[in-house]
Amino acid sequence: NLKIAIVGAGSSYTPELIEGLSQHRKTLPVKEIVLLDINEERLGIMEGFVKRYIQHLNYDVKVWSTTSREEAFTGADFISTQIRVGGNKARINDEKIPLKYGLIGQETTGVGGMFNALRVIPVMIEIAKDVEKYCPDAWIINYSNPTGLVTEALNKICNVKIAGLCAGGMRPRWWASEALDVPEEKIYYDYLGLNHMNFTYHMTIDGRPITDEEFSQVIKKCTTVSQEWMETLHLIPSQYTQYYFHTKERVQQLKEQDKTRGEAILELEKQIFREYADESNNDKPKTLAKRGGGGYSKVAIGVMDAIYNDTGKWMVINVANNGTVRFLDDDAVIETACYVSKNGMQPLTIPDYPKTVVGLISAVKTYESLAVEAAITGNKDIALQALVAHPLVRDYDIAKPLLEEMLEAHRDYLPQF
Ligand code: G6P
Ligand code: MN
Repeated sequence: NLKIAIVGAGSSYTPELIEGLSQHRKTLPVKEIVLLDINEERLGIMEGFVKRYIQHLNYDVKVWSTTSREEAFTGADFISTQIRVGGNKARINDEKIPLKYGLIGQETTGVGGMFNALRVIPVMIEIAKDVEKYCPDAWIINYSNPTGLVTEALNKICNVKIAGLCAGGMRPRWWASEALDVPEEKIYYDYLGLNHMNFTYHMTIDGRPITDEEFSQVIKKCTTVSQEWMETLHLIPSQYTQYYFHTKERVQQLKEQDKTRGEAILELEKQIFREYADESNNDKPKTLAKRGGGGYSKVAIGVMDAIYNDTGKWMVINVANNGTVRFLDDDAVIETACYVSKNGMQPLTIPDYPKTVVGLISAVKTYESLAVEAAITGNKDIALQALVAHPLVRDYDIAKPLLEEMLEAHRDYLPQF
């Protein structure tokens, strides 16, 4: 019988995870769910809500909360991590400051993504060290962004088992299933790249390659990238490649919006937490569907189920490259299709690479590995190199003052610098 600890349980996504666990109660016999957060107010509200929610779901499981990692981790089988260091307030800086320099301002992509990594990685390392100490056999199921960089840092520094998750890797499957009206288990593909910088191709249904017409149906679901460009490219890109393929247009749009996504979320969260706090309310708030992280519990529980029951599932996950992609280093974390079983994730072979995107993926990976190094060491020169290596920055004259301004804005959360 399993014990699951949720780190950052004050996140509005927690009930999704609870719902998913409840739906899988037959295959995943969980006896205990521990909620952990540094924000005691949100933690208290969430504990109250989750207790009402499991009753509503008729789900028989022990739920309790703590601020002690020792208590939460001892005896745990899975540690789900979903933290955002500095909260959405820090995210707003990531979104706004780069825009002043004419660059994309975004939570995971570009300069904002790098600073997200610089804040989150040191805290994730602390958490992982406690996992080593209190539950060395547990799996870390990470959803903290930027998930690829977090996974790479933990692989480098700690001796833990970690699955770096993002629902994005499964989206082509979900898109194709909806667009073509076929069950998802019949759909497979090759998947090349990194978290939020990746491409799907060689899609098959029941082992047969999809037709050009079916391809056109599927890409209609990817609404952020030009349909014409995807037809030309003949790959299904991550939604986040919009920032690379339509940079000028996106910068313009981001400048014109009256609220950044982080600002909108701060308001949305107030509403969501009012609903969680309302003691007459025992069901998931509808407002939650307005967050972008849907699908998270499906992927997280898919991984736990495949590991615990040794089911050998096909899933897209962030793992160390180890020769999977020949043009990247072995210790570079990639997002790739894996076979998941009790032994963890085994990346599947990728037979060939679409040449057009190799340069872009390599450049972004170079930035990522430098950013991870900067996050671990607090070395400012490396941080500046990471920024200049990023294809969305590239210009030293912009990077230099931007780095200073970002370091200053986030300094409460960057003890390593
Ligand atoms: C997608 C991404 C996640 C990201 C989320 C943002 O699901 O894959 O990595 O965190 O969107 O959603 P939000 O509601 O915070 O903008
Ligand atoms: Mn993601």
